[in-house]
Amino acid sequence: MTRAIYPGSFDPITNGHTDIIERSAKMVDHLIIGVLTNNAKSPLFTIDERTDMIRKVTAHLENVTVEAFDGLLIDFAKKCEASIIIRGLRAVTDFEYELQMAQTNHVLSPSVDTVFLTTNLKYSYLSSSVVKEIAHFGGNVSEFVSPYIEDRIKEKLKGRA
Ligand code: PNS
Repeated sequence: MTRAIYPGSFDPITNGHTDIIERSAKMVDHLIIGVLTNNAKSPLFTIDERTDMIRKVTAHLENVTVEAFDGLLIDFAKKCEASIIIRGLRAVTDFEYELQMAQTNHVLSPSVDTVFLTTNLKYSYLSSSVVKEIAHFGGNVSEFVSPYIEDRIKEKLKGRA
C-alpha cells in the first residue's frame, strides 16, 4: 500500500492545490493532506478552519484524508507511515527552496522520497497569498478557489478591510 503526504499551509486551499491533490490521489493508495498547525506566516484561517475547508473541497476523493500536524514534516511522514512527500512546483522560483527541503528531508529519513508534480499551467502563478491579497482589496477570486472557499474568505474578511 503506497501512502503519500501532501503537506502545506493551505491558507486557504486554492484550485492549484486541488489540482495537485486530484492528480496525486490517482498515483497512490492513500493520500494524506498534512496541514501545518503553527505557521510562522500568521494564517488568516485557524487550523480547524483550514482542515475543515480542505475536507469539504476534497470530499469527492475517497482515498484522501486530512490531518493537522506540527513539528517536523519528516516526523509526520513517519507517523503516517508514508514513503512519499508530494510537492507542487509552479515556477523555477520555487525550485531552490523545494530542493533544499527535499534533500534535507531525505537526509533525515532516507526511506522517504519527495515527488514533485508540475503545476497545471493554468495555476502556475497562483498562491494562497495572492488570493488573500486580491480578496482583501475586494477583487474577484472565483477563478482561483472553489465557490465554497470564496464564501469562506468573504465571511472571514467581512468588516476587516
Ligand atoms: O504551503 P507551504 O507553506 O509552502 O508548506 C511548507 C511546509 C509546511 C511543507 C514546510 O514549511 C514544512 O514542512 N514545515 C514543517 C517543518 C519542517 O519539517 N521543516 C524542515 C523542512 S526541511
